Amino acid sequence: MEQQISAGISRTIQTRLVLPPDTNHMGTIFGGTVLAYIDEIAAITAMKHSGKVVVTASIDTVNFLSSARIGNVLILEGVVISTGRTSMEVYVKAECQDIATRERTLTTTAILTMVAVAENGKPTPVYGVIPETEKEQHLFKNAQARKERRMKLNEFAKELI
Ligand SMILES: CC(C)(COP(=O)(O)OP(=O)(O)OC[C@H]1O[C@@H](n2cnc3c(N)ncnc32)[C@H](O)[C@@H]1OP(=O)(O)O)[C@@H](O)C(=O)NCCC(=O)NCCS
Repeated sequence: MEQQISAGISRTIQTRLVLPPDTNHMGTIFGGTVLAYIDEIAAITAMKHSGKVVVTASIDTVNFLSSARIGNVLILEGVVISTGRTSMEVYVKAECQDIATRERTLTTTAILTMVAVAENGKPTPVYGVIPETEKEQHLFKNAQARKERRMKLNEFAKELI
């Protein structure tokens, strides 16, 4: 039987300060910078789950809901929400905190697929995941539907190659 481990093992939190080089002329953070942060935390999250090196197979369902400004603190949280044979779906959310008011706003959510690879770069099996929170259980239940949608989009993407 496939070994399963708790989602809590992968849960990762990273905090970043939004600085001038990360921002545009309006003082708000570049989307590409947020994506780079999201990719990094997803990789750490998936490595903690699998105990293996991982690569990013896809980044989808990215929603930029609001922006972070210079001097804000960005708090990112990643967790494995479902697994395949060698792939892991990682949910990442980024919240922006205003230092003066301590108010937190959800700025970005994303789901990434990370694949564990062996030394030869080939995909290698990962543990299953046991979701913990209500939200993780909900995302776990819908994983198959997201996979099917992703496969359809991949077919479309292949037409662009
Ligand atoms: C991701 C990668 C390892 C998949 O290799 P592959 O030879 O296609 O392997 P497979 O077809 O056996 O697929 C392996 C797993 O990846 C998943 N996968 C492959 N392409 C995917 C995609 N575009 N989106 C989501 N999942 C994908 C498969 O569904 C499969 O999951 P499962 O084992 O859980 O069922 C390979 O395409 C790769 O190395 N890509 C480059 C990754 C990279 O360098 N990323 C950094 C940014 S460029």
